[in-house]
Amino acid sequence: MKASYNTEDIQRLLASSDELEIAHLFAYAKKVKNEIVGNKVYLRGLIELSNQCSKDCYYCGIRCGNASVQRYQISEKEVVDLAIKAHETGIGSLVLQAGERSDKEYVVFVEHLLQKIMQSTNAELGITLSLGEQEKDTYKRWKEAGAKRYLLRIETSNEELYKKLHPENHSYTQRLKGLEILKKLNYQVGTGVMIGLPFQTIADLADDILFFKNFDVDMIGMGPYIPHEDTPLYQYSKEIPTGEERLLLSLKMVALTRIILQNVNIAATTAMQTLDPQGREQAIQVGANVIMPNLTPAKYRENYFLYQGKPKVADDFNLSIKTLEQSLAKIGAVIAYREHGDSKHFASKNNQK
Ligand code: 5AD
Repeated sequence: MKASYNTEDIQRLLASSDELEIAHLFAYAKKVKNEIVGNKVYLRGLIELSNQCSKDCYYCGIRCGNASVQRYQISEKEVVDLAIKAHETGIGSLVLQAGERSDKEYVVFVEHLLQKIMQSTNAELGITLSLGEQEKDTYKRWKEAGAKRYLLRIETSNEELYKKLHPENHSYTQRLKGLEILKKLNYQVGTGVMIGLPFQTIADLADDILFFKNFDVDMIGMGPYIPHEDTPLYQYSKEIPTGEERLLLSLKMVALTRIILQNVNIAATTAMQTLDPQGREQAIQVGANVIMPNLTPAKYRENYFLYQGKPKVADDFNLSIKTLEQSLAKIGAVIAYREHGDSKHFASKNNQK
């Protein structure tokens, strides 16, 4: 395998159907992962705080325009209790995710929630936020309250494609600005894209990887696009690659991202598991090193349908983590309990400062 890949190499590998070539790519990505970040899998317990959303993204099931969703907001107490339970189970980090809201009341709710989680868990959990685009002051307040990482997917690095996936008042430039601000505030910054979208080309996906590299992000979360029938983009479902093709493309994206970005954290995402029950394990095999077990109580989870077919897992998260541990053991990966598992890339950037 070559040490450095240019755009053409990336495009060719993404398009390749040569089984031997793909096997080599995957084996090399695994080797790079084991050498650079090791074979540990870091856990981020995912709590889907709320499906209330002010955005109207054409692909997403919880878009504000979808009237058939029952909206919910988990109470502070419930989230804090979940955080305590996660901490006791040995989960080192949490991801708090929700639809996008930026009203004052909500900003304060999240701020208090972060403070409460920190107080109740001896400030031992690493907290990641995935709460959409916010004002600089909000990002700052949430960081001061205890968050240290922020996920904000660019969704696609092709501005023209971005425009096709969102209403006119959703701005690509604004999103980029958000990522810039998060970086300046010294968050560990994560981004990512959806793979196999209508109108998306192999060249777009190759550019996405180069975007991650050029933007110097610390964490990547990406996965296949999965159509949701209550969304405007659903009408193009016949024009996208098959589920199998989208999963393979996603695995190639993980492998190439690992090879090209080296020391970042890469998540094996739920969308991969949706297309194949072993999708996350497959991603771990080809370069991913983070898994986000879903801790959202079942009664809420049913309404957090970003896309259809999201896996239903046991409400008892001790059990689902034990099951995960067993399936990871089969592929020689081990769960890192009680560790934050920060991005090595972030640490190396800070050492150079
Ligand atoms: N298919 C796959 N991923 C989706 N997301 C939203 N809708 C879909 C879909 N239909 C992803 C977006 C968002 C993340 C929280 O979920 O990338 O950033």
